[in-house]
Amino acid sequence: MHNQTVVVLDFGGQYKELIARRVRECGVYSVIKPGDTPVEELLKLNPIGFITTGGPASVYEETSPHCSPELFTCGVPVLGICYGMQLMTWTLGGKVSSASVSEYGPTAAAFETDAVLFDGLDTLQTVLMSHTDFVSEPPAGFRITARTADCPVAAIECPDKKLYGVQFHPEVVHTKDGTKIIRKFLYDVCGAAGDYTMDDYIERTVKSIREQVGDSKVILGLSGGVDSSVAAALISKAIGENLTCIFVDHGFMRKNEALEVKNAFRDMPLKLIQLDESERFLSALKGVTDPETKRKTIGRLFIDSFCDEAERIGGADFLAQGTIYPDIIESGNSKAATIKSHHNVGGLPRDIGFKGLVEPLRGLFKDEVRKVGTMLGLPSYLVNRQPFPGPGLAIRVIGELTREKLDLLRDADLIFREELENSGEQASQYFAALTNMRSVGVMGDGRTYDYAVVLRAVVTGDFMTAEYARLSHELLSKVSKRITNEVKGINRVLFDITDKPPATIELE
Ligand code: XMP
Repeated sequence: MHNQTVVVLDFGGQYKELIARRVRECGVYSVIKPGDTPVEELLKLNPIGFITTGGPASVYEETSPHCSPELFTCGVPVLGICYGMQLMTWTLGGKVSSASVSEYGPTAAAFETDAVLFDGLDTLQTVLMSHTDFVSEPPAGFRITARTADCPVAAIECPDKKLYGVQFHPEVVHTKDGTKIIRKFLYDVCGAAGDYTMDDYIERTVKSIREQVGDSKVILGLSGGVDSSVAAALISKAIGENLTCIFVDHGFMRKNEALEVKNAFRDMPLKLIQLDESERFLSALKGVTDPETKRKTIGRLFIDSFCDEAERIGGADFLAQGTIYPDIIESGNSKAATIKSHHNVGGLPRDIGFKGLVEPLRGLFKDEVRKVGTMLGLPSYLVNRQPFPGPGLAIRVIGELTREKLDLLRDADLIFREELENSGEQASQYFAALTNMRSVGVMGDGRTYDYAVVLRAVVTGDFMTAEYARLSHELLSKVSKRITNEVKGINRVLFDITDKPPATIELE
C-alpha cells in the first residue's frame, strides 16, 4: 500500500518510535526493525533509506548490538543517530572513544551550513545531546559537519556514499531544527516523494478490506477504547452490516461508558451487540484479591463471553482487531520483565473457525489512529480518550470486588475526571481508585466509617515511566469536597504522589 519506506533500525534507544513518527510526519512511511536484522532481509522491504537509532551500549562491548557491515555499503542512504553514528564509524574503521564526562541535555552546536543536512540552517543551533562515547576520528572519506564545546565530532557526512551521522537527537523537540534535518535526509538524500499521507489512508484501507473479506462476515470485539473503536468505524465503512461488533460489558466500565459507546456508533451501519456480563464476571471474581488472578480471570472470561456470543450468532469468517503498530514492533532488546499480565480486548479467541484476521490499523501509531478516527466522524470523547485498561475498574478497586464498591468508584472517578478536564490542568492519564481501607470520619453530627479513594494523575509520553502530575491544591481540594459530599460511602480522599517507577500507573 506504500510506495516508499524508510527503515528505522532499533539499537535499544528510547526514541525509536519517535524517529519513525517524525519520518511519517514528513510524509514518508516508516517501519521499525531490530538493528541486527540481516541486510538481505531489510532490502526486501525496498527501503529508500535507513535510520539507525541511539542505544545505551558502547560499540566496543562484546554484547552490544551490531548490524550487518553491508548496511553501509549496499548503496541505500543511512542516517546514524547517536549510537547509530558511532556504530557506522566503528564499522567503517573510524574511532569511537569514551568521554570523561557525559554530555547530556540541550547543548549549543556549530554547524557547517554547506553540509547536505544543514544546508540553509542557522550556524549555531541548540541540539539535544545524550552520550558518553563519541566519535573521535571519523572513517576515511567522511568530513566533520558539526561540533559542540565537548564533542569535537557532533555530525559527519560522506555524500558520495550517502552516509550521514549525527551525535545529537534530531527527533526530539529540544533540537531546534531537528525535523528540518530529518526532512533534508528524506527528501534531499533519499529522494522521498512524500507519498504517505493520512488523507488517502481511509480510501486505500477501505478498498483493501473489501478485497480481503469480500461478502464474508466479520466480528470485532469492541472495548470502547480508541483502537477498537476506530477499527470498527473503518471496517463498517468498508463492509457495513457485514460487520458485527460485540461489546462485552464486564461490569468494570466507567460511569456512562456503555451508553457512550452505543451513541458513538448509532449512525453507523454496523451491528452492535452489547452484552451485560457483569454477573458472570463478578461471581467468578468473588473472594479474589490477588491482582494477577483478577487480571487472568478477567482475560479468560472476556474471551469466553466473546466466543459464546460469536457462536450464538452463527460465527463469522473473519475476526477483526484494533491492533496498532506499537503492539507489534519487534524490539531490538526484548529482555523486559513481565510486571503485569496485560489484558486487551481482541486477544486471539479460542478457535471458532475464523479464516483470517482483519487488522486495518496494524501500521499506524496512536496519533495517526486518532486522526483517522476524527476523519471518520467518531466523537472526540472516544477518539481522544485517555488509555483505559482492559480489566477496567477491576484493577482500580484494591482487594475484593463488589457492585457497591464499583459504584462508589464510578461516581468518584467521574467527579475527578470532570473537574480535571474543566480546570484546564494537564495529565496524560487520570483516574480514581478505591482503596480497601476504611477509616473514621465525621459528617454533620454523625460518625462515619467509610472508604478512602485515591486520585491518580500522571504525566508521561510512553507510559513506561511516568511522573505524578503536579495538580493544584485548588483543584484537589475541589475534587475532595465534591467526592466526600456527593459520594456516600467515601469519607477520605488521597492524592498519589508516586512516580513510575517505583509505582505502576494502575494500582493493581
Ligand atoms: P501500568 O499500571 O503497568 O500501566 O504502569 C501502564 C499503562 O498500561 C495501561 N494498562 C493496561 N492496558 N490492558 C490494557 O489495555 C491492561 O491489562 C492494562 N494494564 C495497564 C495503564 O492504564 C497505563 O496506561
